Amino acid sequence: MYNLNRLFCTLVVLALLSISTMSFAENAGHFGIGKTATSEEIAGWDIDIRPDGKGLPVGQGSVAQGEPLYEAKCASCHGSFGEGQGRWPPLAGGEGSLTEDRPEKTVGSYWPYASTLWDYINRAMPYPAPKSLTPNEVYAISAYILYLNDLVEDDFVLDQSNLATIKMPNEENFYIDNRPDTNNTRCMKNCKDPRKIVVQHSLRGITPDQEAPAPIKQDKPVLSEVAIKGKITYTNSCLVCHGSGIAGAPKTSDKEDWRKRSEKGIDTLTKHAIEGYQGNTGIMPAKGGNLSLTDEQVKNSIQYILEVQ
Ligand code: HEC
Ligand code: HEC
Repeated sequence: MYNLNRLFCTLVVLALLSISTMSFAENAGHFGIGKTATSEEIAGWDIDIRPDGKGLPVGQGSVAQGEPLYEAKCASCHGSFGEGQGRWPPLAGGEGSLTEDRPEKTVGSYWPYASTLWDYINRAMPYPAPKSLTPNEVYAISAYILYLNDLVEDDFVLDQSNLATIKMPNEENFYIDNRPDTNNTRCMKNCKDPRKIVVQHSLRGITPDQEAPAPIKQDKPVLSEVAIKGKITYTNSCLVCHGSGIAGAPKTSDKEDWRKRSEKGIDTLTKHAIEGYQGNTGIMPAKGGNLSLTDEQVKNSIQYILEVQ
């Protein structure tokens, strides 16, 4: 009996040992967490396009095809000629302005490679619906933006093999910075008074110096608790369009518009804001494009909009 017990215990110990050595061997050099990414998963992330065109899918699009697409999907923010609406970024113009006091950095005046244009549009635009364009649409819209910058003719057709041959005007000004501004010797005596060292919070030509959309006035009647909760969501996810009325969004300060909309009732408004809504003036993306918001956060932020009227 005693021996049988011992044998059994030994077997259990051996079994456990072999299981643990197996998993150690499998994850040698790791902590035994995570898993190896599959080639499909890697392909989903690996979408960058290199200056030499590496990474581009096969496809093509002409300036002529790009024009109506751009007008429908991009012009409301970037302007029909790439001049930029309001505070949205311009995409064309600014040539020769980089050394001036107010440099205007656009695709044409600043960007070093045409590949960045394709890559950026493909991964991030249109702003409310990234990754919604087909490769051919990205080619066509990119061709049109190059045309708006006078970099190609109006009969140009962009494809995977000619994109890298387009020479951008500012390419030469991108080079490895060899100024000795790092690895300095640490100052140990007679150093500058740290109180006089100022960190500048604005960058020439990058930090916008125009006014941000006017914040909601504070002198309104006391807000309900729900509306107070909604204010932060509103500020982070809705103000961008509803503050200034961009792309057809009803301005938060437009009493008459919101009075009419509020007749639908908060439940309908909430449903529209959660699921997305297309009315007569534009497209309200689902949850304002921030899908991580909970339904309750969306509802609270609408309550806020309605109460500040
Ligand atoms: C709702 C407004 C909106 C729409 C519509 C929109 N964009 Fe944009 N776009 C933006 C914003 C905002 C940025 C800046 C994003 C940032 O800096 O993070 C931007 C940046 C860009 C840039 C980079 C500009 C730069 O110099 O850094 C390009 C290129 C661009 N958009 C192309 C497009 C194209 C092409 C479309 C249509 C398919 C489009 N956008 C539609 C808002 C919009
Ligand atoms: C990218 C721009 C954009 C953002 C961001 C945005 N909206 Fe809108 N919203 C719109 C547009 C455009 C409309 C008008 C649609 C129409 O009536 O044609 C609209 C309409 C609405 C309406 C009225 C719907 C109706 O039935 O009349 C509500 C409510 C609303 N938005 C709530 C929100 C909330 C809440 C947020 C933030 C969580 C938000 N929106 C963020 C663009 C935006």
